Amino acid sequence: MRVAFVQMNVELLNPEKNYSRAEKMVKEAVEKGSKLVVLPELFDSGYNFESRDEVEEVAGEIPDGPTTEFLVEIAKDFDVFIVAGTAEKDERGKLYNSAVLVGPVGWGYMGKYRKVHLFYREKLFFQPGDLGFRVFNIGQAKVGVMICFDWFFPESARTLALKGADIIAHPSNLVMPYAPRAMPIRALENRVYTVTANRIGEERGLRFIGKSTIASPKAEVLAMGSEDEEEVAVVDVDLSLAREKRINEMNDVFGDRRPEHYFI
Ligand code: ACM
Repeated sequence: MRVAFVQMNVELLNPEKNYSRAEKMVKEAVEKGSKLVVLPELFDSGYNFESRDEVEEVAGEIPDGPTTEFLVEIAKDFDVFIVAGTAEKDERGKLYNSAVLVGPVGWGYMGKYRKVHLFYREKLFFQPGDLGFRVFNIGQAKVGVMICFDWFFPESARTLALKGADIIAHPSNLVMPYAPRAMPIRALENRVYTVTANRIGEERGLRFIGKSTIASPKAEVLAMGSEDEEEVAVVDVDLSLAREKRINEMNDVFGDRRPEHYFI
């Protein structure tokens, strides 16, 4: 199975422009054989909001808002599964930093995840996620979703892996330098593939680090983006490797866990 990250620039508060940029890049990933494409966190709106009003301006309901509708449409046209980050406004007006998973004809909108671990000023605008970590069956693979700063808490990836994820889709707007080094270890310790789709560019003085990363269950970096160019990376993943939790004939990374000794 082929998977891709889309590393893109995003124009703050300009969804229409960001839709067309994303559409072009998803098309490129599909032309290179990708069945699953991961876009950045808040790919439609940008990230560095100044006020709650700004978030309100761009947030939409999921699935009944314009961004989910756009994603469903391109997933159908390109016959692909897409995970993408977007600001969500629920029916009571609460805001979440969310991600949606959509698929080809017959799949459509599959579900959403609301970011559990909010980073820095996100706490001024968004509610912490209340849906837990979710794994979606896309037929060929099980895909878990987490968003950006969730990586800092190893419990996020662990929970997704224990729930059966083969691949962790990780829409991101990374600003600290650590995740490109950490994600291969998240992949290794859980024996899963990870696809971090980060963005590039700068918003109001806040710089995003690029370096989107696809990592293997053996901690290999299968693809890494540059620090400042838009790019699409497509790699083959061997799902049997992600489903094999034994690391030798006597150790199994899940079977050997000793939760009775862990401090939760
Ligand atoms: C982040 O969670 N966007 C740093």
